[in-house]
Amino acid sequence: MNFALSTSAWMEALAKTEVKKQWWKLWETIDRLVQFSWNEDLIAKVNLWSRVWNKLYIALWEKENVTTFDELFDFVSEIDWGKYFKNKHPILIRSSSVRSELFSDRTIQSICKKAVVKSLVWEWQFFDENEKLEKMDILILIINNKARILLNTSWNALHMRWYRKESWSAPIKESLASFLVSSSNWLFKDNFYDPFCGSWTIVIEAAMQAKNIAPWLHRNFAFEWLDLIDPKILETEKNLARKKIYDWDYKIFASDNNPEILEIAKNNAKLAWVDDVIKFEQKDFKKLLNEKLSWNLVSNPPYWERIKVEDLNEMYWNIDKLFRKNPELKWWIISSFFDFDYLTKRDFYKKRKLYNWGEKCYFWKKRV
Ligand SMILES: C[S@@+](CC[C@H](N)C(=O)[O-])C[C@H]1O[C@@H](n2cnc3c(N)ncnc32)[C@H](O)[C@@H]1O
Repeated sequence: MNFALSTSAWMEALAKTEVKKQWWKLWETIDRLVQFSWNEDLIAKVNLWSRVWNKLYIALWEKENVTTFDELFDFVSEIDWGKYFKNKHPILIRSSSVRSELFSDRTIQSICKKAVVKSLVWEWQFFDENEKLEKMDILILIINNKARILLNTSWNALHMRWYRKESWSAPIKESLASFLVSSSNWLFKDNFYDPFCGSWTIVIEAAMQAKNIAPWLHRNFAFEWLDLIDPKILETEKNLARKKIYDWDYKIFASDNNPEILEIAKNNAKLAWVDDVIKFEQKDFKKLLNEKLSWNLVSNPPYWERIKVEDLNEMYWNIDKLFRKNPELKWWIISSFFDFDYLTKRDFYKKRKLYNWGEKCYFWKKRV
């Protein structure tokens, strides 16, 4: 079976590495999509354990040179959709077209919906959507006139964790926080610290990785209403995942000068089963300048406009000073404050471009 994992921009390389590590057969990477083949047994496992991907799709079919709506209709209606629909689920078609002759999303979606319905009517004699059922989410991608049909097995995107019940002004995207923790090469054998922790997203994701908690133990997935795999496989995978949770002895420290969000953050950590390993302290970052630090520090310092430029300059200048004073500290920071480049010496770090909720940022890491 062919699959496609969708990722955020600039995170495709990690998805590729993961696919190769699992020995799945990688066959194509396009913008924010990594395609590979394997058997359907992986569907439950990948969805359950996805920390950094957005959705897992089944790549049903693809075709070059689709330049007319008639060709698109024939292409989509030739699929035996009855094979995937257990019941009369409402059909949701989403689409994206890039550098192609067919570009009107509304028309693409309406043509494709008619084509899916035609195939189902052929199978079932009539098709009326049962609005009480969950939607079947189908993505039509047309890039350089090559059309691809993808069927969502995940349902809602996997980057929005269930533990975040209340929102907060500038949280980092959960999947990005998890990606940063993984990219920091932290081996869970020493302490971890976020001195600008806000709603604790980075430390919660770090703790979930350290305790080996599958991020999606508490949710349902679209593949449960696709007629594809035995529904018992998900329960088996969830039971296996519960047995794999570690007791983990180290500590994760979190601090912030603003305790306003503390109750929400604590509650999030509790829901994620990691409140036992996170220790919070209300602390202004400047106080760290007098301390000796030798941990793994991954953080998302403030950068938004409400702070005066002079204050931001001073803060990032102090961040740079802290890193230089503590050569044993392994540090990584993510920020959209691009002037950090001018406040520190470039031989001191490496950086890579990423996006947080669509906003460009850099992930600066200590050069080793
Ligand atoms: C970009 S937010 C971090 C968001 C966090 N990663 C999350 O997912 O919720 C930056 C945080 O830095 C904190 N902060 C601002 N100035 C600070 C200072 N001088 N010392 C410590 N924390 C500070 C803010 O209160 C805010 O929570």
